[in-house]
Amino acid sequence: MSYLETTRQYYSDVAETPEPGLCCTTTPRFALPGLNVPQRMNDMNYGCGSTVHPRDLVDEPTVLYVGVGGGLELLQFAYFSRRPGAVIGVDPVARMRQAAAENLAVAAAENDWFREDFVSLHAGDALELPLEAGSVDISAQNCLFNIFEEADLVRALAEMHRVLKPGARFVLSDPVAPEPLPASLTGDERLRAMCLSGATTYDRYLELLVEAGFGTIEIRARRPYRMLDTARYDVDHAILLESLEVCALKDPVPADGACVFTGRAAIYFGDQPAWDDGAGHFLLRDMPLAVCDKTAANLESLGRADLHVTGSTWFYDGGGCC
Ligand SMILES: C[S@@+](CC[C@H](N)C(=O)[O-])C[C@H]1O[C@@H](n2cnc3c(N)ncnc32)[C@H](O)[C@@H]1O
Repeated sequence: MSYLETTRQYYSDVAETPEPGLCCTTTPRFALPGLNVPQRMNDMNYGCGSTVHPRDLVDEPTVLYVGVGGGLELLQFAYFSRRPGAVIGVDPVARMRQAAAENLAVAAAENDWFREDFVSLHAGDALELPLEAGSVDISAQNCLFNIFEEADLVRALAEMHRVLKPGARFVLSDPVAPEPLPASLTGDERLRAMCLSGATTYDRYLELLVEAGFGTIEIRARRPYRMLDTARYDVDHAILLESLEVCALKDPVPADGACVFTGRAAIYFGDQPAWDDGAGHFLLRDMPLAVCDKTAANLESLGRADLHVTGSTWFYDGGGCC
């Protein structure tokens, strides 16, 4: 049996018998006015963060969601895209699609605004999506791609890029590792399926996103996920996995490299009303300007006494104060 088959079998089992706590972190229950999440759907939150960000979801976008779990994020996306077929769920595991469908039927009974036909569920695989190129406004996956070996991760990222319209967004939540994980872990198919032993590093994940063609990347969260300690895992030192939330835009990759926003800002506080770096960044005095890591490094290298560049907050959602 390949690790992909082991994964499908594992999720078939946890579709039948929900396993609260699998993958998920202790992020607060996602609450919005009028959104009631059925208990079983919440128990089947197998995501390690959130891919549902209201600012991405203006104009009722068409959303592709790969790896449906109990349907929690399908329902949350449908909250913003209230029209038939706007949310497309894809999953190769029949029992998981069935569980999601049942949970969505309960959600329809518990939420006046929600109709089951807002979500369509399809058999399909992240490695070969059953969708036309350039057909969706948002593609999303939560706690699935970390399971893939690197060659499959490359395919899955290419598929997410292919189905997006130009300029559209791929949102993801996934564990990352602080160092390449040892073979004792990566070769363990069950731990891999449980999102505990397949994670690549932060740097490698970003490299692969850029190689897939995403030219702008926003890091929206970076939190502790799981501790792989020496008592329970076959490791010679404890390894803290983190959970990452990312929005990657299908923009062309600039010649000097992708723009990766990690929450850094530049503040000019000199004796002029504003300062222009001559490279497209116009800084009003005292007004923090969000900058990508590439620009932050360029500005720091100037060594100016009237310019301060902050470190990464690992929280960037495109917001600004004005
Ligand atoms: C860790 S769960 C995450 C579920 C959901 N995204 C959530 O946040 O609750 C992984 C999901 O991916 C599905 N899955 C497994 N292999 C897959 C594949 N090759 N392509 C697409 N989905 C897959 C599983 O059936 C399961 O629904």
